[in-house]
Amino acid sequence: MKEQLEKIYALATQDLSKAASINDIEEIKNKYLSRGGEFNAIKKGLKDLSDEDKRIVGALANEITQKLEASIKAKHDEFYVKELNEKLQNDKIDITLPGKFIPQGKVHPITMTINEISSIFQSLGFSLIPSELSPEVETEYYNFDMLNFPTDHPSKDMQDTFYTSVASNVILRSQTSGAQIRAMEMQKPPIRVISPGRVYRNENINSRKNNFFHQIEGLYVDKEVTFGDLKGILNEFIRKYFGESRPTRFRTSFFPFTEPSAEIDVECIMCEGKGCRTCSNTGWLEILGAGIVDPNVLEGVNIDSEVYSGFAFGMGVERLAMLKYAIDDIRLFFTNDERFLKQF
Ligand code: DAH
Repeated sequence: MKEQLEKIYALATQDLSKAASINDIEEIKNKYLSRGGEFNAIKKGLKDLSDEDKRIVGALANEITQKLEASIKAKHDEFYVKELNEKLQNDKIDITLPGKFIPQGKVHPITMTINEISSIFQSLGFSLIPSELSPEVETEYYNFDMLNFPTDHPSKDMQDTFYTSVASNVILRSQTSGAQIRAMEMQKPPIRVISPGRVYRNENINSRKNNFFHQIEGLYVDKEVTFGDLKGILNEFIRKYFGESRPTRFRTSFFPFTEPSAEIDVECIMCEGKGCRTCSNTGWLEILGAGIVDPNVLEGVNIDSEVYSGFAFGMGVERLAMLKYAIDDIRLFFTNDERFLKQF
């Protein structure tokens, strides 16, 4: 048994001298020192020896395994340092190399303008309605019928509105005003909401018109809401958005869902009111339509028009951005030219 032990020890030492990596060493450790390893097999035979022999051979077995463990550990440490150094050498980085360029994105000027307008109205007590109450793919019912449009109104024509192949009454909304109806269906007065979003119109595209653009719809319904409230709120909005010194004017207008109706013009920033291509030589640009909500619209959503009244407005986001930043072509917002977008 003694000889057997020494023979195995010699074999193990030989294996160890041939080891070339930590992996090899792990294998050797397994082969000789694990539970199922060579030494354990011999130690199991100890029980058949006399007490005297058990003591001698047992002591020798312990001595040899300890020796082997020590040399395995020494070899392991040696390879560990070696492999670590190799890894460090291979992974070496040159900290003087220039860093990778990561381009930084920006908020689109239209999103920026929507955010700015929304926060002004929020400061005036309006809240944003959830976007699911203002879908871009809309039915004629919300886009026209509930807004008191007569069946033969010209804007329902295919010339002006994009119809879809989903169903004959499903369209791309031509205005955000349908959100007013959904808001009033969901909520009883007092209602004070705004709803921004994209709208679509079958337009010939030019510097002032695109076939899609953005609007912000507003609605205020309560007891005793008057045209004076409408003027007060919208003037306050214009003052906050453009500052004190921007000339504006109210004009009477017509919309099927408001009576009376008005439009607000802002002095053209490109020519300061003198007249130019952008404002068709009028010196003014229209930014919004507004009015007192027609009683028919209120009754349609079961709001008693004898008790409640309201005003509504819808403003063009691109127009408002053009007039603030002196942009003379609406198409710049949609062509994704970085030279333009980076200026904001
Ligand atoms: N929806 C109208 C348009 O697109 C704008 C408008 C006018 C909205 C009057 C309103 C309103 O809410 O009261 O031309």
